[in-house]
Amino acid sequence: MRAIVAEKHGGPEVLVPADLPDPVPGPGQLLVRVAAAGVNYIDTYHRTGRYETHPPFTPGVEVAGEVEAVGEGVTAFAPGDVVATADAIGGYAEKALVDQARAVPVPADVEPERAASVLLQGLTAHYLTHSTYAVQPGDTVLVHAAAGGMGLLLTQLVKLLGGRVIGTVSTPLKERVAREAGAEEVIGYEDFPRRVKDLTGGRGVPVVYDGVGAATFEGSLASLQPRGLLALYGAASGPVPPFDPIRLAGAGSLFLTRPTLAHYVSTSEELRTRAEDVFGWLAAGRLDVRVGERYPLAEARRAHEDLEARRTTGKLLLIP
Ligand SMILES: NC(=O)c1ccc[n+]([C@@H]2O[C@H](COP(=O)([O-])OP(=O)(O)OC[C@H]3O[C@@H](n4cnc5c(N)ncnc54)[C@H](OP(=O)(O)O)[C@@H]3O)[C@@H](O)[C@H]2O)c1
Repeated sequence: MRAIVAEKHGGPEVLVPADLPDPVPGPGQLLVRVAAAGVNYIDTYHRTGRYETHPPFTPGVEVAGEVEAVGEGVTAFAPGDVVATADAIGGYAEKALVDQARAVPVPADVEPERAASVLLQGLTAHYLTHSTYAVQPGDTVLVHAAAGGMGLLLTQLVKLLGGRVIGTVSTPLKERVAREAGAEEVIGYEDFPRRVKDLTGGRGVPVVYDGVGAATFEGSLASLQPRGLLALYGAASGPVPPFDPIRLAGAGSLFLTRPTLAHYVSTSEELRTRAEDVFGWLAAGRLDVRVGERYPLAEARRAHEDLEARRTTGKLLLIP
């Protein structure tokens, strides 16, 4: 099969196409013929080694497609089923392995490619808006990188819950995209805490959804109302330097959390329940996924270059 291999840690150039033997499903595993693989920021952390990986390896955690074969002891799925996962092993490939406990069924009214474009970021937006901080009707919240894959889904879910969104973006095109997703106020990054205060009558917001990290961290804290929550869910601009918790007291008894998807879908039941919501909203037209670009599998390098250079909006897919 064709696959992408990261021969070593490094920049996007380490992602090269290769011919590999088809993977063989072990006990409890599914072999999935990949209809589409999602490109996620975590794939860049795996590529650089910021998150532990051992080259050579095939990156990619998010895929959807048809089950081609199953390993010993698989009871939940059978060949021919269409599944999606945010935990694939070697997703940037024509075929990938998935543990049955980490797969979810894709409903018949959701195309496999749509499933791959929404699952990982949809699950993340789900837990951030429903569990990390449960958005209440009338809340005004701050969403950074509002035109990104995560930002567009967060914006729509905050709206579904009756909230109002202030979004940050870096270009006029991204401003338009964020507004189309429902953001009421779209601002640049410069001096954003002051803009947020101005837009909230001087009070600040109860929650900031921050996947940008180093570049926005200080401003995000300064944008919160007393007892507000900073949900620091990523670090697209780099990791936040060490931080003294006493600062949270002085800034208004704030809360800081660094959540990650794995702990919010830790059981098959929680995974399925959140996935059913996400696919249900998609099928009902209550949630829209903007696919910014589809790349042929062999062009994984270009997808990573575009993502890290802030050239993209919405979701990026690799098509084998
Ligand atoms: N914790 C979790 O469970 C979880 C799950 C999924 C994703 N994430 C995190 O969510 C974040 C967004 O992921 P995504 O895949 O949806 O990416 P994305 O938001 O589509 O792309 C990243 C965006 O971040 C903004 N950005 C600001 N400063 C940047 C910089 N110095 N370098 C690069 N980008 C910068 C850019 O938007 P502007 O140009 O508008 O600033 C850029 O388009 C990532 O940090 C990712 O790790 C976390």
